[in-house]
Amino acid sequence: MEAAVSSQPMPDSSSPKAGSPTRSSETEPALSKRQKKKLLKQQKWEEEKDLRKEKRKERKQQRRLQRQNQPEVERDSQISRKRPRGCLVPCSLKVVVDCSFDSLMLIKDVQKLQKQIQRCYAENRRATSPVQLYLTSFGGQLKDNMELKDKGWRNWKDITVEDKHYSEVLAKDELVYLTSDSPNVLKELDQTKAYVIGGLVDHNHHKGITFEKAKEFGIEHAQLPLSCFIKMNSRKVLAVNHVFEIILAYLEKGSWQEAFCTILPQRKGVEAVGCDTNTPQENNSESHSADKEEKIISCQHREWLAALIGLLLSRRKVQ
Ligand SMILES: C[S@@+](CC[C@H](N)C(=O)[O-])C[C@H]1O[C@@H](n2cnc3c(N)ncnc32)[C@H](O)[C@@H]1O
Repeated sequence: MEAAVSSQPMPDSSSPKAGSPTRSSETEPALSKRQKKKLLKQQKWEEEKDLRKEKRKERKQQRRLQRQNQPEVERDSQISRKRPRGCLVPCSLKVVVDCSFDSLMLIKDVQKLQKQIQRCYAENRRATSPVQLYLTSFGGQLKDNMELKDKGWRNWKDITVEDKHYSEVLAKDELVYLTSDSPNVLKELDQTKAYVIGGLVDHNHHKGITFEKAKEFGIEHAQLPLSCFIKMNSRKVLAVNHVFEIILAYLEKGSWQEAFCTILPQRKGVEAVGCDTNTPQENNSESHSADKEEKIISCQHREWLAALIGLLLSRRKVQ
C-alpha cells in the first residue's frame, strides 16, 4: 500500500492562533470573560513550557536508569516492539481520524492531538493487522504544528492524509462514527466499514459534539462496548490513540475485554467484569441477545475460584 499524503494547499483557518500578538485595547473590542480566561490559560501554559521540558527530561533520565537496572531478558522483550517479519496481515477495515474540530481547540490541545495521531501512526506500523488509516479535514493549527514540530509526517507510509471532510472521501454507507454518546453498542468490527474517531482533545467541553455531527451527516454511530467488559474509575470518554489502539488490539486478539485491559492505562482503574445486563445494550436494537447471555468471568472471579479450589483440595489432603 502506498502513502497517499496530500500536499494540497489548505484553506485559511479562521481560528485564533496561539501566540498571535495582542493588540491594544483601543483598537480591539474588549475580550469577553470566557476569552480572557482562555487567553490566561494559554499564557500560563506557554510560561510553563520550560518547566514541562525539564520534567520530561527528568522522566526520560529516570526511564533510562530503570532500563539499565533491568535484567537483560526483560529488557529484550521490551525493545523488540517491531513487527516480526512475515507476520503482516493487513486488513481492509478503515479507521479515520476526523480532524475537523481544529478551530475548537487551544494550541496545547492541538499539540496533544498531534502526539496522539503520531502514536496511532506508529502503532499501526507495528501492528500485525494494520488498518487502512486516514486523516481527514487535515489542516489549520494541526497541520501548522506538524510542519513546525515534525516534518517527518510528510514521509509517512500507508496512510491517507486529506484536507477534505471524511464524507467527501468515503462512501456514506461504510461510515460508522465512534462516539461514547451513541446509544448503539459496538458488537464487533466489520472489515467493510470505516470507523471514524473524532480528532478532538476537549476535556469534554464539547460533550456530545461527535454524536450530533454523526446524526447531522446521517451516518451510523456506535460506542465501544466498555461497560459490558470492564469497570473503570473514570469517564468512558477515551483519547483518540486509546480508541485506535483498542481497535488494533481487538483485531489482533479477537477479544474486547483483552483489548480494553491491555490498552487502557492503569490510572483509569480498569477491572474486567462479567457482562452487565444494564449496559446500553438493553435498549439497543442493534445489539445481539447472544451477547447478553454470554457471561464473562471476571479476573477477580477467576482468582477467587482458584483460591477456593485450592482451599478445598488442601482440606481433602488433611482429611
Ligand atoms: C477525547 S474524545 C472526544 C470527546 C468529544 N467530546 C466527543 O463528543 O466525541 C476523542 C474521540 O474518541 C472517540 N471515543 C472516545 N471514547 C469513546 C467511546 N467510549 N466509544 C466510542 N468512541 C469513543 C470518539 O470518536 C471521540 O470523538
